[in-house]
Amino acid sequence: MSSIKQAPSEAHESCNADEYVRLYHQSVTDPETFWLDQAEQIDWEVSPARAASWSFDPVSVRWFEGARLNLCFNAVDRHVAAGRGNDLALIWEPDSPQTPSRSMSYVQLQSEVCRMANVLHGLGVGRGDRVTLYLPMILEAAVAMLACARIGAVHNIVFGGFSPEALAGRMEDCSSRFVICADAGWRGGKSVPSKANVDAALELIEGPVSVLVIRHSGTNIAMHEGRDHCYSKLAAGASDQCPCEPMAASDPLFILYTSGSTGKPKGVVHATGGYAVWVATTFGYVFDYRQRELFWCTADIGWITGHSYVVYGPLLNGATSLIFEGVPSYPDYGRFWEIVAKHSVNIFYTAPTALRSIRREGDDLVRLNDRSSLRLLGSVGEPIDPDSWHWYHDVVGEGRCPVIDTWWQTETGGVMITTLPGAHQAKPGSAGLPFFGVQPQLVDNQGKVLDGIAEGNLCITASWPGQAVTVFGDHDRFEQTYFSTFPGKYFTGDGCRRDEDGYYWITGRVDDVINVSGHRIGTAELESTLIQHHHVSEAAVVGYPHDIKGQGIYCYVTLNAEAGPAEGLERELRAHLRSAIGPIASPDHIQFTSALPKTRSGKIMRRILRKIAENDYGALGDTSTLADVAILDELVSGRRQS
Ligand code: WT7
Repeated sequence: MSSIKQAPSEAHESCNADEYVRLYHQSVTDPETFWLDQAEQIDWEVSPARAASWSFDPVSVRWFEGARLNLCFNAVDRHVAAGRGNDLALIWEPDSPQTPSRSMSYVQLQSEVCRMANVLHGLGVGRGDRVTLYLPMILEAAVAMLACARIGAVHNIVFGGFSPEALAGRMEDCSSRFVICADAGWRGGKSVPSKANVDAALELIEGPVSVLVIRHSGTNIAMHEGRDHCYSKLAAGASDQCPCEPMAASDPLFILYTSGSTGKPKGVVHATGGYAVWVATTFGYVFDYRQRELFWCTADIGWITGHSYVVYGPLLNGATSLIFEGVPSYPDYGRFWEIVAKHSVNIFYTAPTALRSIRREGDDLVRLNDRSSLRLLGSVGEPIDPDSWHWYHDVVGEGRCPVIDTWWQTETGGVMITTLPGAHQAKPGSAGLPFFGVQPQLVDNQGKVLDGIAEGNLCITASWPGQAVTVFGDHDRFEQTYFSTFPGKYFTGDGCRRDEDGYYWITGRVDDVINVSGHRIGTAELESTLIQHHHVSEAAVVGYPHDIKGQGIYCYVTLNAEAGPAEGLERELRAHLRSAIGPIASPDHIQFTSALPKTRSGKIMRRILRKIAENDYGALGDTSTLADVAILDELVSGRRQS
């Protein structure tokens, strides 16, 4: 694979090729010195005396033990104290281009965060309490995160597109007694019923919950006396001063639920100190951020990308971060570039699925808008196909801007594998090289280490500061999920190839997790939801290639005897998945079948189901272990007719 010569970034380079080699070497041979140096960008209440104290067997992830800090102080107050209070912290671009945008300087953000922190205190929120945020992409979402961090509460953000059922499940799992929502949000011109969904979710939860409602859309909503509180009323009477709670580096900062290959979503926990150092360091190097530039990450704060690179990473670096409420397609597919032109965005970070959907509409909507402010383009969430990469580089970036493809996960806290602008040449389709302190390893299915040019399961052999520390309430599950497949190593769940230059090429998930539009969905969660339906007897869900979404959701369903006609049922099952999980769980294809392909011991042969979904019948592979070979014909002809 040839590499692309990237235009060098002007002015300065935060890191050149030689420096990368030197720093990377230091980061893995002397991580103590390296990370204690990096930790100096944080203002600690008690400075760390040591960096790492972790073990993968037994599993204990600890960074900067004994140190104390407050993340909100570092993201906000510190910049004000340094005389940079009037710099812009956040710019908000609404769903509708007709609505005026808003912005907040660091000093304004400080007052708002203090007010919100005092309101939360007033509701009884204290250190360690889990506060659920179920919000649209508005400034108050960032304010609420920072307010929690300020008072030592643990935020649990649930993506605003998740259903009431999914919201309730996540709140229950972490016994969250507080939820912050909006009256409603806007997405692509449609109203998203934030408060109504909270009302429905709370029907499913036992015990008292307090609801803080932020007025945003002006929609009529029901307020439950005693339970629901209007934020603007409480904020009007709240002080704009609030001390920062000093936290231990190991105290949890947030919980974020993510789907895996088994069971219910897991509450991934990130701890304050390590996460702070990791997102501050990665943001600075990976995006080569320069003061006063405008950074725009299009991710929703409901995902880790929004946590780390809409809010914490940029603000820890004193950057200006843009928060966009809407979607790439509204009012038309030129919206991203209109926003780039309107606000003069310098660094732009998005997912391949968005690029593919925009590209399909042609280049005119891109070219119509001035993109001369852009300096760096980033991609995240799924592999970027070389075609989309070239389009991003040549059309969006006019060949001027380096493109970085950043591989990482909810559990890694921040970027792990990427090229660094100015230091490395990119290879379209490859994420690139490990970030400082990241020690990737490829192993075969038996756990044998593969050296040099190889393809295998991607593991990380040593902890890094951004690593998640546990699964909320279930440390065993943390160990089981990430450290038991290849003992002594963190297993990412991804397949990966390493080339002759040491570049890593992520090939996709090797477990039963599918990546739909850059969002991770566990097939087990979809299957258990499907079989809750009274007509469904068995279900197997697999991913298959999808032009825009990367992967689509393909469901095989067997029905029990009382089931009615399949057509009405298909609609019902779609609705069932949407209401149990949310619109992101809408299947792309449902195939009814009389049976699933199983081995004689009763194990579903997913490999075969994947091949059929992919329309790849020639390569069904070894089918000799199938209990009933006749089922193959039915499955294949069912696929053909669809
Ligand atoms: C999974 C993690 C990282 C924040 C967004 C997703 C896939 C992520 C890339 C990339 C190829 C990627 C992996 C990973 N993934 N970035 N640049 N190239 N694949 O976070 O929901 O925790 O999902 O997304 O499969 O394991 P997530």
